[in-house]
Amino acid sequence: MLSLLLLACGGPTPQTAFNPRSDYAAEGLDLFQVIIVMGVVIGVLVEGVLIWAAIRYRSRDNDQLPPEIHGNTIVEIAWTTAPVIVVGYILFLTLPVIFQTQAPAPSSSMNVEVIGHQFWWEFQYPDANVDTANELHLPVGRTVNLILHSSDVIHSFWIPALGGKRDAIPGHTNFIWLTPNSTGEFPGQCYQLCGYSHANMRERAIIQPQAAFDAWLTAEQQPGVQPTATDAAEGAQFFQTSTCQACHTVNGTSAQGKIGPNLTHFASRGTFAGSIFENNPNNIRLWLKDPPAVKPGSLMPNYHLTDHQLDVLVTYLQALQ
Ligand code: CUA
Repeated sequence: MLSLLLLACGGPTPQTAFNPRSDYAAEGLDLFQVIIVMGVVIGVLVEGVLIWAAIRYRSRDNDQLPPEIHGNTIVEIAWTTAPVIVVGYILFLTLPVIFQTQAPAPSSSMNVEVIGHQFWWEFQYPDANVDTANELHLPVGRTVNLILHSSDVIHSFWIPALGGKRDAIPGHTNFIWLTPNSTGEFPGQCYQLCGYSHANMRERAIIQPQAAFDAWLTAEQQPGVQPTATDAAEGAQFFQTSTCQACHTVNGTSAQGKIGPNLTHFASRGTFAGSIFENNPNNIRLWLKDPPAVKPGSLMPNYHLTDHQLDVLVTYLQALQ
């Protein structure tokens, strides 16, 4: 049984916290490692003595009743002092990290507003006037200040490679600041039970070189394309005149809804719907056909779109580079 259980430890583990990609994640891991090593050493010592004593002094035939002992000052001082020293040492290591990571972010940080929704993450770059969903682009080596809110219930933002989790609470603002130290894509997910699709509320951090990040940000600032190809144009027309525009924004068009994700550059995202689907035509179609069927509790209802409406909408969404 143990062998089978340990098999679960193999395989790719993209959401591991043991591969820190920011200063914040590294500080947490350093503390964890010190404490786990101390815990293992102390645990082995205590259990070893316990097992040794149980065997060495076990009851034997013809044993007399042992003498009764009440109190032993030296032993009691020892077993009080030793844990105090151990816990005091942990406190000594932990306090500076708490003060370091919980301090206000440096004023030179880049601000990103992180807003939890049932069941997706919104990322706003207020200085660039950019609003995107589920995929958090960050430049490597630049300190970012994540400003956490929620629009409905309590969510918790967590990308293990970037550091510890923190709640996104309605009516309250939390912060995480950190400096990513390497490029790559790192998945995470909501860590606070927030409704039916809590498990379908994922996010990804995409850490890029500064130039690539700047290029991405500039592209995101452009208005949505106005397609000319027949199907995409029909899809755009449908999007802007039907119920889609009540919840979604495509910058530069009449669609200015604020309930669901901003779709201005939908096609530039690798994933969608709380980052649970790879962004491809089949998945977009599957999603539009019946959102709550593939993501329970989805606020986007089944609109019973016809096959033709699905076709033109998929084409339009794919055009939104
Ligand atoms: Cu949002 Cu769980």
